[in-house]
Amino acid sequence: MDLSRIRNFCIIAHIDHGKSTLADRLIEMTGTIQKRDMKHAQILDQMDLEQERGITIKLAQVRMEYEYDGDDPKFRNPDGTKKKYILNLIDTPGHVDFSYEVSRSLAAVEGAVLIVDATQGIEAQTLSHTYTALNHNLELVPVLNKIDLPMAEVEQRAQEIETSIGIPKEEIISVSAKFGTNVEVLLRRIVEKVPPPKAELEGTSLSDEGELKALIFDSIYDSYRGVVAYVRIINGSVKRGDKVFLLNTGKEVEVFEVGYFKPKYLSAEILHPGEIGYIVTDLRELSYVRVGDTVWKAGNSGVEMEKTKPLPGYNVVKPYVFASIFCSEGNEYNTLRDALEKLKLNDSSLSYEPEHSNALGSGYRCGFLGLLHLDIVQERLEREYGLDLVVTAPSTSYIVVQHGGAELFLSTPSAYPDPSTIEYIKEPYVMLEILTPKLYVGPIIELCTLKRGVNTDMQYLDENRVILKFDMPFPSIVTDFYDKLKSISSGYASMNYEFVGFKESDLVKLDMLIGGKSIDAFSAIVHRSEASHIGRDVALKLKKLIPRTNFEIIIQAAIGGKIVARESISPYRKDVIAKLYGGDRSRKDKLLDKQKKGKKRMKMVGNVNIPQEAFLAVLKKDDGK
Ligand code: GTP
Repeated sequence: MDLSRIRNFCIIAHIDHGKSTLADRLIEMTGTIQKRDMKHAQILDQMDLEQERGITIKLAQVRMEYEYDGDDPKFRNPDGTKKKYILNLIDTPGHVDFSYEVSRSLAAVEGAVLIVDATQGIEAQTLSHTYTALNHNLELVPVLNKIDLPMAEVEQRAQEIETSIGIPKEEIISVSAKFGTNVEVLLRRIVEKVPPPKAELEGTSLSDEGELKALIFDSIYDSYRGVVAYVRIINGSVKRGDKVFLLNTGKEVEVFEVGYFKPKYLSAEILHPGEIGYIVTDLRELSYVRVGDTVWKAGNSGVEMEKTKPLPGYNVVKPYVFASIFCSEGNEYNTLRDALEKLKLNDSSLSYEPEHSNALGSGYRCGFLGLLHLDIVQERLEREYGLDLVVTAPSTSYIVVQHGGAELFLSTPSAYPDPSTIEYIKEPYVMLEILTPKLYVGPIIELCTLKRGVNTDMQYLDENRVILKFDMPFPSIVTDFYDKLKSISSGYASMNYEFVGFKESDLVKLDMLIGGKSIDAFSAIVHRSEASHIGRDVALKLKKLIPRTNFEIIIQAAIGGKIVARESISPYRKDVIAKLYGGDRSRKDKLLDKQKKGKKRMKMVGNVNIPQEAFLAVLKKDDGK
């Protein structure tokens, strides 16, 4: 295999700047798929949901062949004829929830096509992906997209890229992914700029016979093939029938098939060093094939496994957003369990465990990478499995440090321990980056400060646009933060965040009591300063939703034994004496007395009928991101 013919690259961009559309054009112009066979746009977005929402959720890869027809003789055959190249493209999701997918695919390539929408300019995720790409020493090929649109400001945006990222503007290729304008130029530039794969260790050369080392950058569960690992071969080679090891999980695996995506499975004899492709394993469980793990096999030199170092990049993704999922219909619980099991097969970042709520029955406490991930899982459960779900408001995880130093990882308020055992509580923090026109800097700082954020940095990208950085508690951005940010900046601000760890905070468990009885599904862990305000909000919501009865209903929010908010729903006074025209006073009194007793009994047992709608309204996460 002639390594100088291989180019491995990915496309990075802020959401909606045109990655999938550009990937379509590359696939089409290299003849990987004929135009008439491109049944739908965004060929790499294969899930129905990806197609409908126009977003990339799962990363995808495709191998293309391309004949270089540029002028540089270095990239032509020695006799001057056109040289054939193999271009391996990895398409990555742009949304912040899936940043982890982006970073791992960057480890599998040598170059990145950086797309910036010429009508929008650089956005928060453009910058964060760019920095990650530079950290991986990738060669950047910058592109300004959507130049067909009248609002495109090519010169200004190119200047912005030069100033903020330091790429000379002459190097930026202006394209229209929609119409294919200048995509030929981009193909040539990829060959010229992205370096071919190199040996892992300087001074050594790559050969099929060497010790096999391959990086797993994604894995999926295919119902026909079982677990399939997407790999980048760093050293050595792999073919059908090989017995290989997964270094971090310590599993021995038999290779059933190897091949490439074009973009459908295409089996091959062998995967050579430097190549990107797939390995079909004999495993049935995705959890063994973890992203970032190293596939290893001793070479002919017979290197011992103990002496072998895994490739860097192994990381177990941790969910940060949690929500409980219940079925509206109690008898659908088994369907929900099976559905979650199936979804998990293909989504190793989804976690779930059974949970019982005194109000909503049996369900699951699930962990997600972010709100979009939660949204997508919910939609897939409802759509693919016909379930009607109640999903509670998303929250995050906390660490409770108990006296004596023991740490308890808390992903649901119901696991909150006895307060007398608690030394302190830690909550997750993020480094939040917001890119905005300078006009909105004031209101954004105000919003973030209100949400307990601390402004740590402010830099001008150019005379009009500013990057703000905040040290921010993650719970503050879990619910409606993004909508608020968009609304105060008329839609212009964009954000990105990165987890920085857990920090001590003054957190308490807030309980909601109805008729004196705590309703577990409404409990939440909140910052002490926000507790009464949140409690009042929920109490007011409930007050509107619980129908009046003939007795008074008390709704309270409490921290431990202390009531921090209180609302009451006054009773109907059933007109029991309406039918008694005039007449005997003592009879009237007797009836009123009886009614009073009845009310008392109802109060005592706390027999409040909370309608399902009230639960839904209070618990349901806000729509939107
Ligand atoms: P995610 O997968 O969600 O990260 O988005 P993406 O970056 O893949 O963007 P996508 O290709 O889905 O494009 C976003 C929108 O911009 C779609 O409506 C495209 O049709 C449109 N679009 C992409 N490229 C061009 C272009 O060159 N010109 C015009 N006019 N529209 C474009």
